[in-house]
Amino acid sequence: EKGGYDHFMLKEIYEQPKVIRDTLLGRIGKDSTEVQLDGIRLDKETMEKINKVYIVACGTAYYAGSVGKMLLEAQARVPVVADVASEFRYRDPILDENTLMIVVSQSGETADTLAALRMAKKAGARVLGVVNVVGSTIAREADDVFYTCAGPEIAVASTKAYSAQLVAMYLLSMKIGQVLGKIGDEEFAVLRDALLELPEKVERVLENAHLVEDLARKNLHMKNVFYIGRGLDYAAAMEGALKIKEVAYLHAESYPAGELKHGPIALIEEGSLLMGLVGQEALLEKTISNIKEVKARGANVMAIAMEGNEEIRLAVDDAIFVPRTHPNFTTLLVNIPQQLFAYHIACGLGRDVDKPRNLAKSVTVE
Ligand code: F6R
Repeated sequence: EKGGYDHFMLKEIYEQPKVIRDTLLGRIGKDSTEVQLDGIRLDKETMEKINKVYIVACGTAYYAGSVGKMLLEAQARVPVVADVASEFRYRDPILDENTLMIVVSQSGETADTLAALRMAKKAGARVLGVVNVVGSTIAREADDVFYTCAGPEIAVASTKAYSAQLVAMYLLSMKIGQVLGKIGDEEFAVLRDALLELPEKVERVLENAHLVEDLARKNLHMKNVFYIGRGLDYAAAMEGALKIKEVAYLHAESYPAGELKHGPIALIEEGSLLMGLVGQEALLEKTISNIKEVKARGANVMAIAMEGNEEIRLAVDDAIFVPRTHPNFTTLLVNIPQQLFAYHIACGLGRDVDKPRNLAKSVTVE
């Protein structure tokens, strides 16, 4: 049932090209002039009434939501707040009929996410669910559902469902941006073509998996890991650090690259690993200078960056390169080596990869 893989987690990592294709299928194709989201009410009239968007979720789904926030703001020019459901529901958020709430959930059963959804509906807001499990509670209760097509995810740590959630965020921000007239035909075509190339680019990242495995072996005895990045790379950093905590039981932190020097840099010492994420090349110089500050304090420094970036290669001990893509979509590619890195560290340390201690696949308690 693991299809020849040692663990479900690895099998699911390798399923990602297919999962991305399946999530794109029927929604966008090579001749599309718009994103097709049948049955989801995101027409011009509905969207023009919306004056703010909340994206609410937990854990990995929240990190996908953070990507959604950045892209939706950039592309649709609507204010978006992304929040974790267990915080959102206990504050007093501004919810009314002009609010769109997007809830993101693989299982569709997460208690806090469901409670946030119910709160929004009660206040008259529209709720769009981005859900993987068909017929789940969140899918049933949301006004509209965007199904991610990741198939059953067995490993407790989410991998393929996260990639499918990212694709959902990509399509939704394109759709809403276009409906609101913020994305012109030419820009749409550029985004569409880049999106359709992602599955093949993920395949190329997976072909180099052995390089990540070597680096995992080299870093097996690190004391702690710091994931840093700016913008979309910060969202990826949060996911990278969570995966290491979950499956390798190692202390990992994620920080916006510029925040490191405001405190956490005090923790850096020999035996620390810094993982610098540089998908967002517009911010390259800034992140490189943050990387150098950490290297000067004795940490081992690794980066995940875009192919052909020689500057980063010179600044770090080891670099992993992923194929170039449109800046909006780098998170998905940057994240794949992080999944593999966490997986191989966990295996190297003899962890129970598919069923990490203390964790449940679906968190139905508050
Ligand atoms: C991380 C992980 C969790 C879930 C979170 C939300 O690998 O699996 O952080 O992402 O519990 O679960 P769903 O998406 O089912 O609402």
